Formats: sequence, C-alpha cells, structure tokens
Amino acid sequence: MNNNAPIGIFDSGLGGLTVLKKIQDILPNENYIYFGDTAHLPYGSKSHECIIDYSENIVNFLLNKGVKAIIIACNSASSVAKTYLESRCDIPIFEVISPAVKNAIQLTSNNRIGIIGTETTIQSKVYSQQISEFNQSIHIKEIACPLFVPIIEEGLENNKFTCEVVKLYLTPMVESAIDTLILGCTHYPIIKEQLYNFLSNEIKFVTSDLPVAISLKEYLETNQKLNLNGSGKIEFYVSDDAEKFQNLGSKFLNNNINNIQLIQL
Ligand code: DGL
Repeated sequence: MNNNAPIGIFDSGLGGLTVLKKIQDILPNENYIYFGDTAHLPYGSKSHECIIDYSENIVNFLLNKGVKAIIIACNSASSVAKTYLESRCDIPIFEVISPAVKNAIQLTSNNRIGIIGTETTIQSKVYSQQISEFNQSIHIKEIACPLFVPIIEEGLENNKFTCEVVKLYLTPMVESAIDTLILGCTHYPIIKEQLYNFLSNEIKFVTSDLPVAISLKEYLETNQKLNLNGSGKIEFYVSDDAEKFQNLGSKFLNNNINNIQLIQL
C-alpha cells in the first residue's frame, strides 16, 4: 500500500468531522476521504442489520478509492459493525469506543462513569461491557439521548430549547454522582458547551477524537506508512443534501468545505 494513499473516515453525517478535525491536527500531511451518510441519518435509531449494511457499502466505496486505513467515526456503527467490517477487509479499521473507555477509566476518581450516546450504542452495552472488563467495581450510568443528533444536524445547538433537552437527559447523571462523562457519539462534542453549562465543572468529559487520532498516528509511524509530503487534501462525499452539510460542516471544521460530492451507494 502506497504511503500517499488517503485515509477513509465515515459517519452518518456531521459528527465524524469532530474526529477528522483532531486527526487532521496531528496528521496534517495525510490526505483524507470523508463520507457522511446523510441519506440514512440517524444511524442511532436503526436496526443493527441496517447499520451493518450501510457501513459495508461505505467501506467498499472507501476501499475502491484506495484508502490505507479506515476510521469508523461513529459510535453506533463502531458498536455493531466493527467486527463484521474487519472480517471484510485487510486494512486496519479504527473505532471510537475502546479509546474513550481507556481514557475514562484513567480519569475517574470516584469510580462512577456516565455514558451518553444514541439508542443503538447504549442498547448494545458495548461501553459498559468494556469498562467492566477493566474494572468490575466501576458504577456505570448509561443514557440514550436520541434528540441530540437531530438538534446538531439542524444546527440548533444554541437554541434555548436545547438547554431543556440537556436538562431532561442529564439530570439522572447528576443524581448518579458521576465524575466522568463519556460523550459516546461523535456528534456530541458539538454541544459540549451546553453540556458543560448544565453539569458541574468538576465532571471530566471524555471524547474519542484525540485518542483515535493518536492511535492512528502510532499505527502509521510503527508501520512506516506516514505520508510525509502530502498536501492534507480532503475529499468530501455525502449521500444527501450536500448544501446543508457544506454550511454546517464548514462551521464545525472551522474551515470552508468545498467540492462536496453527492453519491448514492
Ligand atoms: N455520530 C454517530 C455516533 O457516534 C451517529 C449518530 C446517528 O446517526 O445517530 O453514533
């Protein structure tokens, strides 16, 4: 595999951009192909079969583009499709769950960890299983927050009703006295400020963007696959509504997103 080959990243929509941003910060010479499956958003309320099917189509698309590694920048797909996807390709696939678990275990002082995510991710119990494998005495509180993704995809995170939704979902976290909260959906860093405003500022937030970026970098270094001379080019593909993705995505990446290609898989 050529070192100049791009890195593939996918999510159901905008959320994966939070992961792309961190990866791009620490690997600025790599080239990237980002796929936002906006036609099928949200993944978090779909069946496992659907999510596996959508993810497989995207992985095949990325493989045809010659990517050297794939990042599943989506917790819902990571929780139900990673094992299957790994069996379908011979390049490394990175997911966003285990890096967040390791980080949360290091950070908690009172052994009380909260997890928020989509219905699929929370119902899969993948976070709680992985945490318990490390330490069975950790108390875990998991809450599905299905309204967060549509709020973010509509660009409504600063609307005042978002505070009410945050309060509704997170009040049980406060009651559970957690000291560490895993943002188990790649969309959620976009409403981090609103979550901070509601929770005590002593609660530590865990997102998987940076830890995933670090593991990818370590893999590329160890396997001598770093692209040292690349221009950091990003190609964007979406399966629906390229204009909306462009408007909101540019805001989240702090950079203009141009040339988004609409493609049906
Ligand atoms: N950002 C994704 C996740 O991490 C998907 C959200 C959704 O489409 O429901 O789960």
